[in-house]
Amino acid sequence: MARSIGILTAGGDSPGLNAAIRAVGKAAQRAYGMHVIGFYDGFLGLMQNRFVRFDSDSLSGILTRGGTVLGTSRAKVDKMEMGDGRRMDMRSLMRDVVDQHDLEALVVLGGDGTMRNALKLEDVGIKVLALPKTIDNDVTGTDVTFGFDTAMGIATEAIDRLHSTAHSHHRIILAEVMGHEVGWLALGAGLAGGADVILIPEIPYDIEAIASSIQARKAAGSAFSIIAVAEGAYSREDSRLRASLLADMDSTEGEDRRAVKESLTALARSARTEKLAAALEEVTGLESRVTILGHVQRGGTPSPADRLLATRLGTATASYIADSVHGVLVAARGQSTEAVPLKKIAGITKFVPLDHPWVASARSLGIVLGD
Ligand code: F6P
Repeated sequence: MARSIGILTAGGDSPGLNAAIRAVGKAAQRAYGMHVIGFYDGFLGLMQNRFVRFDSDSLSGILTRGGTVLGTSRAKVDKMEMGDGRRMDMRSLMRDVVDQHDLEALVVLGGDGTMRNALKLEDVGIKVLALPKTIDNDVTGTDVTFGFDTAMGIATEAIDRLHSTAHSHHRIILAEVMGHEVGWLALGAGLAGGADVILIPEIPYDIEAIASSIQARKAAGSAFSIIAVAEGAYSREDSRLRASLLADMDSTEGEDRRAVKESLTALARSARTEKLAAALEEVTGLESRVTILGHVQRGGTPSPADRLLATRLGTATASYIADSVHGVLVAARGQSTEAVPLKKIAGITKFVPLDHPWVASARSLGIVLGD
């Protein structure tokens, strides 16, 4: 009997997802004669058994498309409720669906959070292989994730374009870049786009230090500055407040814990980039503007590098399945791939190391990192 596999895409979408679906599916069909089905909308569709059968035709023509033909959702495997408010044991429901289709493996395309969910399914006996996709590049165990290169290209182009208008108007322009809690995207695009200041979550910033660097530039004849700021970056003060709230989260329960959680959410949504812009305007006397790049960084066709990465990880996944490998992240390691046990990497966010070569390059160039 032909072997069957399932594929789903979970978490925020990312350029290169369709390239990966196509690569896994076509390689599984062509090289190993496997049947391939896709579940819609991530773990939600798996739980609800909403699926499509892929033949080779339905996997053609999707390489260059952005988004995911399967749809996605941020549903987590443990936190789903039935419509009537009852909580069900989702993991065993999903295992039943996998058994019903007699799936030999489930391929899960996701980011940092998805790795944790993938491991939970592996723990209930589903044979899972995960592929690292996210524009944030925060998945541990892989050199890089697909989607990151495309998003970095979009953010870089935006920073390039902001230069001429900032220059003409003698303004400070702050480009807020996505990345969740890590600074890969802001650092990469900031360096590639020649930003004067780059602010990342890994380095809490000092507003005075940024203001004096802008004033020094102004005194030297450059009355404009470009700041690439990661959405997850915090000032030193806010970072201290956040650290103490996080500690409170660990030590409180019930109502108190809920209140701490609300304070954390309020802090995270406190329009920090706008506040920083206003503070810099006041100190430097230069007008400032904020551009939030937002979801434009996740949309559209994947870059050639992301198509290649998704393709080589996808085809490698099919051969790992054929070799009965599971419970792994199919990771990029140089030009080859490596099957990294999910147990080793799930729940570990890949932050920018402070001794990373990009950080060193930025410092050598005199780019201000806010510290
Ligand atoms: O994880 C990808 C990402 O784009 C993050 O950079 C960002 O913080 C988040 O998703 C936005 O999520 P949503 O699309 O649910 O608003």
